[in-house]
Amino acid sequence: MEVKTSLLDNMIGVGDMVLLEPLSEDSFLENLKKRFDHNEIYTYIGSVVISMNPYRSLPIYSPEKVEEYRNRNFYELSPHIYALADEAYRSLRDQDKDQCILITGESGAGKTEASKLVMSYVAAVCGKGQEVNKVKEQLLQSNPVLEAFGNAKTVRNDNSSRFGKYMDIEFDFKGDPLGGVISNYLLEKSRVVKQPRGERNFHIFYQLLSGASDDTLKKLKLYRDFSKYNYLSLDSAVVNGLDDATSFRTVKNAMQIVGFMEDEIRSVLELVAAVLKLGNIEFKPESRCNDTDESRVRDKNDLKEMCELLGIEQTVLERAFSYRTVEAKLEKVSTTLNVAQAYYARDALAKNLYSRLFSWLVTRINESIKAQTKSRHKVMGVLDIYGFEIFEDNSFEQFIINYCNEKLQQIFIELTLREEQEEYIREGIEWTNIEYFNNAVICDLIENNQNGIMAMLDEECLRPGTVTDETFLDKLNTVCAEHQHFESRLSKNSKFLNDHSLPHSCFRIQHYAGKVLYCVEGFVDKNNDLLYRDLSQAMFKANHSLIKELFPEGNPSKVNLKRPPTAGYQFKSSVGTLMKNLQTKNPNYIRCIKPNDKKAAHIFTPSLVCHQVRYLGLMENVRVRRAGYAFRQPYGPCLERYKMLCKRTWPHWRGPAREGVEVLMADLQVPTEEFSYGRSKIFIRNPRTLFFLEERRRQCLQDLATLIQKIYRGWKCRTHFLLMKKSQVVVAAWYRRYAQQKKYQRIKSATTVVQSYARGWQARKLLRELKHQKRCEEAVTTIAAYWHGTQARRELRKLKEEARRKHAVAVIWACWQGLKVRREYRKFFRANAGKKIYNFTIQRIMQKYFLGVKRGLPCMSPVDKNWPARPYRFLDAAHAQLRSIFHLWRCKKYRSQFSEERKAVYQEKLEASELFKDKKSLYPSSVSQPFKGDYLEISKNPKYQKLSNCVEEKVLLADVVNKINRANGKGTSRILLLTKKNVVLADQKTGQVKASVALPDLISVSVSTQNDGFFALKLKEGSASAVKGDFLLSSEHLIETITKLHHIGSTASDDGEQLDINISDEFLVQFKQDKVCVKFIQAATKNGNSASCKRKNNRLLEVSVPAATA
Ligand SMILES: Nc1ncnc2c1ncn2[C@@H]1O[C@H](COP(=O)(O)OP(=O)(O)O)[C@@H](O)[C@H]1O
Ligand SMILES: [Mg+2]
Repeated sequence: MEVKTSLLDNMIGVGDMVLLEPLSEDSFLENLKKRFDHNEIYTYIGSVVISMNPYRSLPIYSPEKVEEYRNRNFYELSPHIYALADEAYRSLRDQDKDQCILITGESGAGKTEASKLVMSYVAAVCGKGQEVNKVKEQLLQSNPVLEAFGNAKTVRNDNSSRFGKYMDIEFDFKGDPLGGVISNYLLEKSRVVKQPRGERNFHIFYQLLSGASDDTLKKLKLYRDFSKYNYLSLDSAVVNGLDDATSFRTVKNAMQIVGFMEDEIRSVLELVAAVLKLGNIEFKPESRCNDTDESRVRDKNDLKEMCELLGIEQTVLERAFSYRTVEAKLEKVSTTLNVAQAYYARDALAKNLYSRLFSWLVTRINESIKAQTKSRHKVMGVLDIYGFEIFEDNSFEQFIINYCNEKLQQIFIELTLREEQEEYIREGIEWTNIEYFNNAVICDLIENNQNGIMAMLDEECLRPGTVTDETFLDKLNTVCAEHQHFESRLSKNSKFLNDHSLPHSCFRIQHYAGKVLYCVEGFVDKNNDLLYRDLSQAMFKANHSLIKELFPEGNPSKVNLKRPPTAGYQFKSSVGTLMKNLQTKNPNYIRCIKPNDKKAAHIFTPSLVCHQVRYLGLMENVRVRRAGYAFRQPYGPCLERYKMLCKRTWPHWRGPAREGVEVLMADLQVPTEEFSYGRSKIFIRNPRTLFFLEERRRQCLQDLATLIQKIYRGWKCRTHFLLMKKSQVVVAAWYRRYAQQKKYQRIKSATTVVQSYARGWQARKLLRELKHQKRCEEAVTTIAAYWHGTQARRELRKLKEEARRKHAVAVIWACWQGLKVRREYRKFFRANAGKKIYNFTIQRIMQKYFLGVKRGLPCMSPVDKNWPARPYRFLDAAHAQLRSIFHLWRCKKYRSQFSEERKAVYQEKLEASELFKDKKSLYPSSVSQPFKGDYLEISKNPKYQKLSNCVEEKVLLADVVNKINRANGKGTSRILLLTKKNVVLADQKTGQVKASVALPDLISVSVSTQNDGFFALKLKEGSASAVKGDFLLSSEHLIETITKLHHIGSTASDDGEQLDINISDEFLVQFKQDKVCVKFIQAATKNGNSASCKRKNNRLLEVSVPAATA
């Protein structure tokens, strides 16, 4: 929640001078001093801010302060420049009222600092964003540039602005800055050529010489030594707290930010250097024949360097320093210049050069910072202008400056009164006329077009004939003598005739801020501000664009014979424009006061402050403000602040605030003439009434604080007590529970112990009884067992005795019977009956055995291995014999069923068995395979039609074999045909016969003992088929093929010679001329299951056979 505060809280002295009671100059100063001593440098007069220069940095400009004052009402917080800035900015942004901030005060009072604080505050609170920040930055950075060229160290201020500055900052409807326009007023250009004691020339000269790089200085033909330049005063060239070298870099940087081009910066520095050079040009007299002195440049080196720098022809400039051409209508008259005139011309040129450069800088900055959009802007003007000056020696400059301040005072009075009056009308309060001093009469004395001092001066300057400052004073003495604010020794007004404080060459004006004595010396010259045309023309001829631009009147094609407007006239019109401008805006005043002349902190010189208070018209200001009602406050905040003073409004007032305030005032019995009700504010006539309210409030607050404290303490104690009570109950409950738990557990364990003892005792008793019972039972059982045992043994003995007796009886009886039978049948037995019985028995056994065999015969399949088991061992041999007989018989039976073909097949199988069984490991796998013979179905297959036609005999075997190439051992598929007479090898694809071997030419066939299908056909040496040598073939049906070959071979041979079958793992074959050994080796299975063949050399062909898998 935002805390509602007021200016009236924790006030040191009074924050608003309007509330000063009693109001007098002394109390005013007293209040200022009190506040100043407590670091309260700001004090209000209504909405005007008085600012005392603290001459040290105070911690009151931090970002936190900015936040504190942001969006708060003016009277809500203690007086601060930020409050004024915030008020101005918000009324610009929210109420669309253009604002101007008028900062006045004498040199060194803190005007420039105040203007910078206002600008920085506005920059901090207005909108943000890339574009806005750039504009802000440019606006803020224009300050260092203008300060470097327009500020100088004076006795009053180390950084004194030597020009007046008015800056319009433009904002868009949102309150974001768009740009700005700067106007400058009357640069104190005399400083360029001469500085009072203890003061310096403009900062830029020192900054350039201290801060520029050696290279830059060389280019500008400058030395780092200040003492080398006549225009630089030496006694205070180095100022404590000012770092010229750093400032130079800051200025250059600021120029870049503002948007100066590199060559623009260079040109500006060249001009600055040129001014320094110009100061070093010195003249010497040269006597002429007609007794006049003519000036000549003494040492031309500086002139030369300057001319080089600016691209001016040296002779042209040199001439301009020696002659002066006066043009009148049709004639041109050239007169020579004496040394004094030459110096005057040189200084005039330097002053003009510098002041025009300064004006150009302002124009150039304006070009950069001007708002880019054409839409309507809201404007906040900040006027930082030299304050009223009263020196010992007051000249034309002071006259002009004081005139400006006079105008500002007038506008201040006008606007303050107007504002006051407007508020009264707005609030419906009757307007009471306010007595105040209107300085319009002084303004009139100075600026009146007919008989004003400035008009007189202009008239003198333009008048033909000899014109001097004295003639001007004479004129004033005649024209203004009657004016009540004009005083002069020689005026017709005889009352000053004896006033020795008024010298003859001076006149005095009674300004609103005090009397100022002006010395007329130099008025005419300064007003004329003459620069000889020869010089401006010489400048225009320069080969330097900036110089050319600064001296447009030097253009010979645009020679203007009219005199240029006088300095006074120019100033008057620009002040007129400024005043018009200010009148359209809502004014906000900051009146700066310096507390001492020593630029020192903590020192308050009452006389000095008093003087400023007087000439700033601050007392006047307070009186105007207090003329009607000293204090006013909107009803809401007023009720909020004082509602505790009346029971009916405290603590809450439900109705409208105004009625609440009415009730409050009635209740407090404030006399009705002391206040008035406006539409939205209450107006309090006298500060006394306000302080009465404040005092009552303070007391009431104390009572309220006590009440609040009392209630709070009561509440705190009560809550604390209740909390303790509640806690006590909880603690007690917990403790009781704990105690009960403990007690219960103790009782429980005691009970358990007692119980266990009791149970133990009972159990032991029971155990004893049970044991006794058991012993009794065991004793009974033992006794019974012994008794039964005795009885049973006795019985057993008796039974055994009886059985023995019965057995003896039976044996005796059997013996007796046997004896009887033998005696009876002995007579019936023959001698060999035993043998007959034996034979009969054997016959019976044999009969039974054969019948058993018959019944148990196995089935008729020759492969059935069953045979009934033998019943008697003595028949073993017969049983085996019978089994063999039965098997042979059943085989015969089986064979008798065979057809002729089947018989042939078995014949072949038999032959194969005879040939290969137990000789070649391939054999067993062939047994179950039927021998098909014609695997290719050669006669039926149309593909082999041609081949079958070639062969005359019946084909016994047709199969695809692999013919091994004799040279490399690789295989080629061939068809192998076997007929009764030939072995034919034909191409598998085409069926073309490749080789045909007549069977008689075949002498042997060789195969390995292993699991492979390789076979070699050995041919008779010299036979027709044996041209290429023996054949090495491989067949899937090796066993069948060889068997067939063997069979045919033996039947086909005429001489009954058998075809030789050679089974061995190494045999020789004849390939062409070579005898090659074919060797079979067992190989690990590598290329699948098939055997592979490889010709190792011309003696060896190796066949690797994979080991037979089980
Ligand atoms: N608010 C301030 N806080 C601290 N120092 C200040 C303040 N105002 C002015 N000064 C000091 O006073 C000097 C002169 O102030 P300046 O604004 O240049 O005076 P003016 O523009 O009125 O001639 C500054 O250089 C600074 O040292
Ligand atoms: Mg200043």
